[in-house]
Amino acid sequence: MKYKVAVVGAGAVGEEMVKVLNSENFPFSEIKILARSSRVQNIDGKDYNVYATTPEAFDDVDLALFCGTEGAKGASQLYGWEAVKRGAFVVDNGQDFRMDPRVPLVVPEVNGEEIKNSQGFIANPNCSTIQMVHALAPLNAISTIKRIVVSTYQSVSGTGSDAIKELEEQVVKYVNGEEIEPRNYPYQILFNVIPQIASLKDEFEGYYGEEIKMIKETRKIFGNPNIRVSATCVRVPVFRAHSESINVEFENEISVSQAREAISKWPGLELQDDPANNIYPMPLFARGKNPTYVGRVRKDTGNPNTLDLWCVADNIRKGAALNAVQIAFKAIEFGVLKAKN
Ligand SMILES: NC(=O)c1ccc[n+]([C@@H]2O[C@H](COP(=O)([O-])OP(=O)(O)OC[C@H]3O[C@@H](n4cnc5c(N)ncnc54)[C@H](OP(=O)(O)O)[C@@H]3O)[C@@H](O)[C@H]2O)c1
Repeated sequence: MKYKVAVVGAGAVGEEMVKVLNSENFPFSEIKILARSSRVQNIDGKDYNVYATTPEAFDDVDLALFCGTEGAKGASQLYGWEAVKRGAFVVDNGQDFRMDPRVPLVVPEVNGEEIKNSQGFIANPNCSTIQMVHALAPLNAISTIKRIVVSTYQSVSGTGSDAIKELEEQVVKYVNGEEIEPRNYPYQILFNVIPQIASLKDEFEGYYGEEIKMIKETRKIFGNPNIRVSATCVRVPVFRAHSESINVEFENEISVSQAREAISKWPGLELQDDPANNIYPMPLFARGKNPTYVGRVRKDTGNPNTLDLWCVADNIRKGAALNAVQIAFKAIEFGVLKAKN
């Protein structure tokens, strides 16, 4: 069986989506790329026709992977449910519907079964949430998580393709001794660390949007509204792959060896944990890779039943495109994604 796939949005995530559909051998008969404007765009060495998005464009589509910008003018709000109405199975990468009770929020290795309960519309969690819940899932299976304190080190690709270009430009300007004017961030990102991702929200005083996503999405994915989450999200001058320092408290004690063993056996996780030999996950080596890497597993010296760990994943791959394609594979397995012809 082959599926006609629409990729909606051709920016950083949309381009990676096309690469992942190819690299993971997704059974597609055709990839139709939709965006705001039509053009020819080269992705991974191949020219693709990009078409302007219209409701009718979804009529012959089996699977629609939404990678457009968020908000009222974004593709998901304009066309997401319209695509479902026209018979497509939708996986949305943005935040518009993540907390919608009709929409399961899924990381396949954590709560993949939720795909069975969908109304044809699944949300991909935020990139920083995906890698954190993925790394913590084997531990939560041993003992329920009570509290998480997380600090993130997020790459510029998380902001989109223009932010990647901006960091490249800032490198060149710095080398040439030219003045640097920030564009995507309130400050220069080169040689800097910015403790702000998204904007302040009334909902949680003093927290920026990305931090609030981590709090709410983690509870929804683990199906546990009682997990206390405190997040500090930070943008760093790294092109690709996010890193996270996580302090996590459980109902009961989990030993370091028990944690390492559970992590090393969990689907999609790779343990890189030999601190004496300088082995730990790093973004430089995670870019373009599929796993969520986990290391620096250790006991919190001041709090019982608590572990510290470090995790790294490619935010465009596991944090977006790969997770979406894995959802589509599961949807085929569960019989909820069907080909029209
Ligand atoms: N970057 C990450 O790490 C990451 C991770 C997880 C989730 N996400 C989410 O994934 C989505 C895409 O992110 P990105 O980083 O790829 O952004 P991006 O590089 O800025 O690309 C956005 C794309 O959306 C298209 N678009 C915008 N409005 C549209 C509309 N009304 N109809 C059709 N297409 C529309 C644009 O079309 P044109 O090219 O024609 O302008 C563009 O191709 C966002 O919702 C983002 O929050 C990103």
